[in-house]
Amino acid sequence: MANTLIELILVIAFCVLAAGAAARTKLYSIDGGREDEMLGIDGICKSMVEPQGYICREHTVTTKDGYILSVQRMPKARSGKTADKPPVLLQHGLMMDAITWLLNAPDQSLAFILADNGYDVWIANTRGTNYSRGHTSLTPNDPAYWEWSWDELVAYDLPACVQFVHDQTGQKLHYVGHSLGTLIAFAAFSQKKLVDMIRSAALLSPIAHLGQMSSPLGKTAADAFIAEDLYWLGLREFAPRGEAVVKLLEDICQQPGNNCSNLMNSFTGPNCCLNSSRTNVFLEHEPQSTATKNMIHIAQMARKGTIANEDENMNHYGQPTPPVYNMTNIPNDFPLLLSYGGKDYLSDVNDVQILLDNIKDHHSDKLVVQYREDYAHADFVFGVDAKQVVYDPMMAFFKLN
Ligand SMILES: *[C@@H]1O[C@H](CO)[C@@H](O)[C@H](O)[C@H]1NC(C)=O
Ligand SMILES: *[C@@H]1O[C@H](CO)[C@@H](O)[C@H](O)[C@H]1NC(C)=O
Ligand SMILES: *[C@@H]1O[C@H](CO)[C@@H](O)[C@H](O)[C@H]1NC(C)=O
Ligand SMILES: *[C@@H]1O[C@H](CO)[C@@H](O)[C@H](O)[C@H]1NC(C)=O
Repeated sequence: MANTLIELILVIAFCVLAAGAAARTKLYSIDGGREDEMLGIDGICKSMVEPQGYICREHTVTTKDGYILSVQRMPKARSGKTADKPPVLLQHGLMMDAITWLLNAPDQSLAFILADNGYDVWIANTRGTNYSRGHTSLTPNDPAYWEWSWDELVAYDLPACVQFVHDQTGQKLHYVGHSLGTLIAFAAFSQKKLVDMIRSAALLSPIAHLGQMSSPLGKTAADAFIAEDLYWLGLREFAPRGEAVVKLLEDICQQPGNNCSNLMNSFTGPNCCLNSSRTNVFLEHEPQSTATKNMIHIAQMARKGTIANEDENMNHYGQPTPPVYNMTNIPNDFPLLLSYGGKDYLSDVNDVQILLDNIKDHHSDKLVVQYREDYAHADFVFGVDAKQVVYDPMMAFFKLN
């Protein structure tokens, strides 16, 4: 999970680059009155999908703990042909949102590619992100709104979205997760949850363990963050373009041994295949807020290397050792595709190896493991050649399941 932290920080890196612009436009101002309009037509469909010539529908899903999440559906190819393949649910990573899957050109971005290949595409937005800030009784101004970590994403957001797509389509779905979107899926599958509604899962930059994170910047960040967790917890919302986060990043970059000349790469690894002329578009939309509590949980994981529920500091389990999500319990016959990169600082190859050891009894015809030596963390979603490297093999895997 240090990985996730790193991912977050990477995002922050972008933020630093964009901090001036963000401050001017107040992208992250929190305004309780804004929530309703989020659910209207000015959503991701209108801004990111329809301009590319695709049909798109906005949906909302309410979790059992009251969060109102926005979900986009792309039911047709650009040609207008209705999907004739199963639904696919896309789940973004930490401090990202659905726009993650829509940022490059349509022939390079996974959501468009899947739609053009006949899949019924559904895209999730995690609680706290720009288009998922509604709640049945709280607003983001309420401290209680931010009382969650990724355990709640496992317990509430993920099941709500999977159930919704399953109910709307009457079909089992394929799942695609990136980074934190893999962690919450692994955690659910290890409890044998959701597997009856999911045909297969493709997990990009898989994160189930965080002990080996190879990014020096990420390690520094995790340490700095934990050392001052009370201060951070007081902030509730971890707003990547906020003053406190920008200051944290500046401090990290001043420490000896840290090189922040390319923050994205410093945190996520030397990405081979990003299109640097898309950086501005990325910065217009990402990074997104998360709960400070979630960040601290992830930093703790990075330190300890275990995929446990949140630590004693914040524990509400009333037991000394928090429960562990045990990856050996993932059902052996559940179809899994894992795609990881040799240069990924967050989904470190040694951590992936621990995961592969955990699932060594998985049925060999139900497990596809893809290794790309030159890929780092962001290449899996933003790489200009990700279609050939990752998405084409992913669709071949879906066809078999
Ligand atoms: C920092 O990284 C950049 C590019 O990655 C490199 O050109 C520069 O020499 C590095 N600086 C230090 C002090 O290592
Ligand atoms: C990179 O992005 C620019 C601007 O959107 C685009 O014109 C160019 O074709 C892209 N390059 C590649 C290799 O996709
Ligand atoms: C948040 O959503 C509003 C529309 O409701 C949009 O204008 C704004 O650009 C979005 N900001 C980010 C950072 O995604
Ligand atoms: C995970 O489960 C396996 C098999 O049930 C068990 O052998 C192992 O000790 C467990 N690991 C942890 C960390 O609890």
